[in-house]
Amino acid sequence: MLDIPYTFELNAPGFVPSRYDNHIRRTLTSMRGQYHDVAAYEAMLAGGDALLYEVYELARPHESGEVLHGISIVHPGKVGDEYYMTKGHFHTVLETAEIYICLAGQGVMVMETPEGDWSVEALTPGRVLYVPPRWAHRSVNTGTADLVTLFAYPGHAGHDYGTIEQQGFRKLLVERDGLPEIVDNPRWGGEDREKGRRGEGEKG
Ligand code: PA5
Ligand code: NI
Repeated sequence: MLDIPYTFELNAPGFVPSRYDNHIRRTLTSMRGQYHDVAAYEAMLAGGDALLYEVYELARPHESGEVLHGISIVHPGKVGDEYYMTKGHFHTVLETAEIYICLAGQGVMVMETPEGDWSVEALTPGRVLYVPPRWAHRSVNTGTADLVTLFAYPGHAGHDYGTIEQQGFRKLLVERDGLPEIVDNPRWGGEDREKGRRGEGEKG
């Protein structure tokens, strides 16, 4: 790991950073249970484990004082009528924020708090999104090209995937008459939500 100042390049059209330490690839299998159309999910999986998104990380210590950063690329596509998206997570240390800069593509960030507040913000090239502490976040590609974002967050934040895995986000992004629409997630709330937050995890 470099412990001197460094730079790297992000060049169109791909925006793969000119240097990185980890390359994470997430396929359909890692999204089991997240898409509302289970039959569409299983049918698609039977045809192969499609690549949904990739993350290029620069390695930094997972310590407060550090800023973890990298590039997230969500490919275009749908499972049934629901767009390709990231797993999404709360930060294990809830009181940590994140900043996203959209470099390419068209999409949204779906967000919610443990109290059930929700928000959906557009991601378009040049747009900066600040995700405050306490807000779980998931990027969704609603376009036809790669959705590319640069992200940065505190080194000690950690990833809690378990809460979202249990019941998903409150809102889903589906295609209706060719356009993205925000709809309620029927799986959200009720019994699953009562089980509360569980587990924590690192990426991968
Ligand atoms: O830390 C973040 O929020 C991003 O780096 C995400 O990890 C990235 O976009 C991939 O999403 P997820 O970690 O939910 O799979
Ligand atoms: Ni995050």
